[in-house]
Amino acid sequence: MKTIIRNASIYLDGKLEKKELMIDGKRIVQIANKIFDEADQNIDAAGACVFPGFIDIHAHLRDPGHTYKEDIRSGTQSAAKGGFTLVCAMPNTDPVTDNIASVEYIQLRAKEHGSVRVYVIGALTKHSLGEEISEMATMKSGGIVAVSDDGKCVQNARLMLSCLRYASNFDIPVIIHPEDYALAGKGQINSGKVSTRTGLSGITPLAEELVIARDIMLAESAGARLHIAHISTARALQLVQQAKERGLPVTCEVTPHHLVLTDEACMNFDTNTKMKPPLRCESDRLACVQALRDGLIDCIATDHAPHADFEKEREFDHAPFGIIGFETAFGILYDRLVKTKAIELSTLVDNLTKKPARVLNLPGGEIKIGAKADLTIIDLNASTTYTKENILSKSKNTPWLDQTIASKVMYTLKSGIITYKDK
Ligand code: DOR
Ligand code: ZN
Repeated sequence: MKTIIRNASIYLDGKLEKKELMIDGKRIVQIANKIFDEADQNIDAAGACVFPGFIDIHAHLRDPGHTYKEDIRSGTQSAAKGGFTLVCAMPNTDPVTDNIASVEYIQLRAKEHGSVRVYVIGALTKHSLGEEISEMATMKSGGIVAVSDDGKCVQNARLMLSCLRYASNFDIPVIIHPEDYALAGKGQINSGKVSTRTGLSGITPLAEELVIARDIMLAESAGARLHIAHISTARALQLVQQAKERGLPVTCEVTPHHLVLTDEACMNFDTNTKMKPPLRCESDRLACVQALRDGLIDCIATDHAPHADFEKEREFDHAPFGIIGFETAFGILYDRLVKTKAIELSTLVDNLTKKPARVLNLPGGEIKIGAKADLTIIDLNASTTYTKENILSKSKNTPWLDQTIASKVMYTLKSGIITYKDK
């Protein structure tokens, strides 16, 4: 089948160009000022932009085990609505994805029901308990793209060193959720003025920074590739900068929420501002934006973490950590950072496309002849209101509920097939 996208600005090499794009079967076959061929399907982009499909290397699809929060069908529909065409599923499911059968389950469900490509991240330790190394070798042969105990953090440095050594044998990147449990304690939000004023217990930035410092040293000793999930403090960024300056294979990601919100958002006890790591102070947020601009940060990742209303509608201390992120990621960052000129549009797009692809060696991320037609068409002049009714994720735990932001995803295509279309 041939599809032609007309009346669009196409994102090519960091710039928007008024061109037309033809897809034949699964692939992009022509990009030209005017395409004269007849197509089976014409998409009138009506002045919108065509970007490479977004890639999210950090998502919680909750399937198997917590499918009341999300499952592979709803999670990937939500991702497609956000403009994503590829997401990586974190292993903190029930059972934990720590063996080949669990990896294959996710791959199979994604093949049957997935609106986006799903790549699997295997657990770093068995059951993610931080006690014993997982079966990385078999999981790698089954196609995992990284190992992680995300949501949890290996506390024992000796075991962490073994994990890193073992992973390096198979050239699997190790993704860490850096959190020292003793320092984090029962903290609910960032420790600082807001924790003092609200009486909510604090999580010191040191809990994150200490583990990053430790794991950079351990990874260097093991010769392993280390990726730091959801980095959130200025000092943590300095540690990554020093590691990179020394030429170590260390990468990091930042979430949309750590780029646009601070712990001030927790003042009204909204449990949709509760996540790990916690929202930090303004100077940390600004350091994250600066590091994104400077290219120190390797990509943006959502940490899409669905939780049901009955779990979030509780006392702050009892609500689980995490917020959904697929459907708001591009819009919030476009609205709050690109429109305000804090970052360039190309910085936002590259950090959602070719840069995350590079971190985990994933396919896609660029619009070019011969590439799979994984695309998202976004109208930057339209707007979107996020309501409980129109969110496609099963869970509605977002701090941006009922807010209207600039931009709207019009279509998402995976291998040339429309996986999301705005009504
Ligand atoms: O806030 C979070 N929620 N942070 C994590 O690292 C895990 C996630 C979850 O799985 O709910
Ligand atoms: Zn995490």
